Amino acid sequence: MRSATTLVLLALCTCAQAAPDTDPRSGLIIDEGWVYANAHCGACHSYALVTAQRGDADFWLNTIRWMQRTQKLWEIPQDQETALIAYLARNYNEDDWGRRPLLPPSLLPSHASESPSAPQPE
Ligand code: HEC
Repeated sequence: MRSATTLVLLALCTCAQAAPDTDPRSGLIIDEGWVYANAHCGACHSYALVTAQRGDADFWLNTIRWMQRTQKLWEIPQDQETALIAYLARNYNEDDWGRRPLLPPSLLPSHASESPSAPQPE
């Protein structure tokens, strides 16, 4: 009986440890660099748009550049941008999809070429 209780407690502790800490206001994972996501990524849309997305550092850089080009996202100081992209690529990377992967461009309607995930002409 006692060992069963211990097992249950152990299982509960393991689960609690596996889930990362998240900020209750934004829903962002609390990890090095999260303050920059908190500061720069919730002004125009829900933080949920950020936390539902997945990608590597290139993906996040392209998404930021696309918002700067087309959505009036401001310049982010270089040191903050570097820490922010590292944070996003570490915590919201494609190895851990929260939703289905993005459709390939060939399956998108032609107006979707403006999307940040579409290949951009250099
Ligand atoms: C100045 C306004 C603004 C700020 C600040 C902003 N965004 Fe956006 N972002 C937008 C707009 C507008 C869209 C398009 C929303 C839509 O399609 O409904 C968008 C869309 C997105 C998307 C979805 C892209 C897709 O493929 O659908 C992601 C991810 C995203 N933003 C991440 C971020 C991150 C990370 C930050 C912080 C660096 C940020 N946003 C800050 C304006 C902003």
